Amino acid sequence: MSEEDKHLSTTLYQKFPVRIERGKGVRVWDTSGKEYIDCMGGYGVALVGHCNPRVVEAIKNQAEKLIVCHMSFYNDAREDFLRRMATIAPRGLSKIFFSNSGAEAVEAALKFSRRYTGKPGIISMSGGYHGKTFGALSATYSEKYRKPFMPLLENVKFLPYTTTRIEDAVDDNIGAVIVEPIQGETGIILPPEGLLQNMREVCTKHGIVLIFDEIQSGLGRTGKMWAGENWKTIPDIMCLAKGLAGGVPIGLTLSKPEIVEVLRVGEHSSTFGGNPLACAAGAATIGSLNEDKLVENAADVGGYFKDGLLELKEKHRIVRDVRGLGMMLALELRFDVRNLLLDGIRHGLLMLYSGKNILRLLPPLVMDKETISQSLETMDELLSEEERRRNV
Ligand SMILES: Cc1ncc(COP(=O)(O)O)c(C=O)c1O
Repeated sequence: MSEEDKHLSTTLYQKFPVRIERGKGVRVWDTSGKEYIDCMGGYGVALVGHCNPRVVEAIKNQAEKLIVCHMSFYNDAREDFLRRMATIAPRGLSKIFFSNSGAEAVEAALKFSRRYTGKPGIISMSGGYHGKTFGALSATYSEKYRKPFMPLLENVKFLPYTTTRIEDAVDDNIGAVIVEPIQGETGIILPPEGLLQNMREVCTKHGIVLIFDEIQSGLGRTGKMWAGENWKTIPDIMCLAKGLAGGVPIGLTLSKPEIVEVLRVGEHSSTFGGNPLACAAGAATIGSLNEDKLVENAADVGGYFKDGLLELKEKHRIVRDVRGLGMMLALELRFDVRNLLLDGIRHGLLMLYSGKNILRLLPPLVMDKETISQSLETMDELLSEEERRRNV
């Protein structure tokens, strides 16, 4: 047993037999020097690539200047980040709350909308994933995650993600609707045409707060800055985290001013939120997304990746479906993907799973076509091996 396993809380993470030591761009290396292409992308956190040079430089400079500065004081690094964030934020979402993770960003969204509407009811989607703190978990669909912690928040209704009519579920009690514009954890599920637009109309009509959880889908991942843009829909509140600070923990809740302005001083807060180190890393991350044209790259090479996956589907009967947009992709198999993940590691390719039979790909947006071709070749071999193993 490793020292790490000895001390860590047990059974909370699936662990793979690899000890990662360093990373650069789309690649990571283990302690034996073996190289991997990282299509897992640190669960989507390595958005602008591992150790992105702009982010590294910003962290180094800021670490030498100031690491701690509570929100009770003004700070230049924070101001610079806010200014840059405002240039990419969806229209109208002009107020920003800082926290340190996705679940915290969702907690803030749920609290803000409760405070604004005074209504406790929430509509969430079947298959939706919003994190594991009590509020976020209450809006998360999976029984596996919810059941051991019941009772959670009451008044949460789950509607099928296939619906395009949410109005039937609205009553006087509903204050918020929360949705991932593209569901990540559940296996890269795109909304049916019209769902997000319908939500927008119904929420506006009934004075309900529409929350987009763009923690996995945002910041260029789908080839647009915001996944909601793919359906031309802007929410009232948007949650962000994951790759927003190049790997340094950060969470953001962007809101229309009238919603968050209802809260009084101290009604919601976060000690680490808005710390200069995360802000400097975040400003550099936005810099990289813009100046290195990573959103455009995600659209371009993401399309190339998806075409390659569709070819694999034609060739391999064990592939049931290929889905996704930009660099948020999935390959659904007819079987459990565990062997493929482990074989991938042996072949130098890291991938992520969703449920039992879905391979999820959240590669850094800095990936190029050559590395994608290399990944596709490896996946082709892995699928052939699996077919031989299963006699398909
Ligand atoms: C859509 C979505 N929301 C919320 C979360 C929770 O984020 P965190 O693990 O940072 O709390 C995740 C994490 O995977 C996510 O994908």
